[in-house]
Amino acid sequence: MQDANSSMPRPLFHLTPQRNWMNDPNGLVFHRGRWHAFFQYNPEGADWGNMSWGHASSADLQHWEELPVALRYQPDEQVYSGSVVASSPEENGQLTAYYTSAFADGRQAQSRATSDDGGLTWQRDAANPVLDRGTTAFRDPKIIRFQNRDGGFRWIMLAVEADDRQVLFFSSTDLRSWEHLSTFGPIGAAGVVWECPDLIPLTVGGRPDDVRWVLLLSTNPIGEDADPQGSSMSFLIGEFDGTAFTTESPELQRLDHGRDFYAGVSFDSAPDGAATILAWMSNWRYAGDVPSSPWRGAMSLPRRLSLLEVDGEARLIQEPPTFVTEHLASLTPATLPTAPHPSVFTLSGHSLVDLHWDPAATGPLRIRLQGDADAIVELVHDTESQILRLTRSGTAADAIHPDFSSTSAVPLAANRKAQLLLSLDGPLLEVFIDGGQATTSNLVVLGSGTVSLTVETERHSSITMATVDLRSPAETGTTVTEDLHPALV
Ligand code: FRU
Repeated sequence: MQDANSSMPRPLFHLTPQRNWMNDPNGLVFHRGRWHAFFQYNPEGADWGNMSWGHASSADLQHWEELPVALRYQPDEQVYSGSVVASSPEENGQLTAYYTSAFADGRQAQSRATSDDGGLTWQRDAANPVLDRGTTAFRDPKIIRFQNRDGGFRWIMLAVEADDRQVLFFSSTDLRSWEHLSTFGPIGAAGVVWECPDLIPLTVGGRPDDVRWVLLLSTNPIGEDADPQGSSMSFLIGEFDGTAFTTESPELQRLDHGRDFYAGVSFDSAPDGAATILAWMSNWRYAGDVPSSPWRGAMSLPRRLSLLEVDGEARLIQEPPTFVTEHLASLTPATLPTAPHPSVFTLSGHSLVDLHWDPAATGPLRIRLQGDADAIVELVHDTESQILRLTRSGTAADAIHPDFSSTSAVPLAANRKAQLLLSLDGPLLEVFIDGGQATTSNLVVLGSGTVSLTVETERHSSITMATVDLRSPAETGTTVTEDLHPALV
């Protein structure tokens, strides 16, 4: 029997707390040269509760330093999700946080806090809650800037009425008083709550005159017949005129096709205005059943969003962070003949794998990951059915929760060349498909040792592949180095 620690080895290049429970990312902001992530955190245990904002910061989005709890729960107030915005240095360099006060009487309302020391300590506003509708599922304030036509800007807050499947828009010029502008929704399937909205302007193909607004939403099934697939993220592409969000295609589109990518929101003030999001890699369906060791909860890789025009339509692209692409660019890819024999490699389990091939020549491609736990992760990429299937199975997976063993499907574009980037960091497996045209992010239970990677195709043809194992700073002394090994066969 595996203990929790060995079935959930601690990730090396993702944000996890040292110990205790973590869920949503909160208050993501780039400030004074560092990336700050606050997060839903229980300072006292490995289960959801005592909700507070934990805090970590990073210079490179790869190595995170955990800092003291930023906003602590109080006897009658839980500190739920929210956001942080940085004012410019000319203003006063202050950070402003908005979070949901979830009061003991069931009310949920938006509260404000400010920090003058770069997010280490916070002063709650004496007038809290500053935005209160007297309702019980009004939460997850996300503040963005909106450029007025006259060159000035105003603040826009999005928050959900979670049970009504609505996003409410408010505006402010002083980050204190808010005017209700409009309400979007409900749309899409009932039987879910809407949580953690965000609204991100993106240019199509980098053309400055063609800006679309992407509304991000997290939806969590509720009720007795709740969908066993659990929580997931969706998006809509539309317009925002400073008052209301409108869209011509009111179908929620899936943002990530895996089981474990939730509550993703973007960083405020990212360099070059890049739209970088971070999400919680778990699922409310079983988050409380995942072994704690002694941490429970991890963030995804930060990913950069952009829009590309494909077949006359704007398509959302999600790319891995620069540190990942830099690692891969430094490698010499090797060519690997597959079929009739599978190719087998040994990975440390904290690894990046980049594969390029021609599916018309190879037929379906099958990848298997197996460690020392009694569980398997299998990916089958089939351009004929235009689906990539990812299956988690085995006793170790079944032991987590009855719905953990499962297959998720990712629709594929009919591209002639195919590409997969796998990022495996302990229990976190993220797959970027065809340059980020689709993604699937999943928790996996492969065990604590090395992981064998098997690549197999139906027909004989070659595949180009590069892998790199990332090492922890502790293993290598004070500086961080990486163990590079091109996949030579
Ligand atoms: C989303 C969520 C938010 C809420 C927070 C509480 O995962 O349910 O709506 O603010 O988690 O921890």
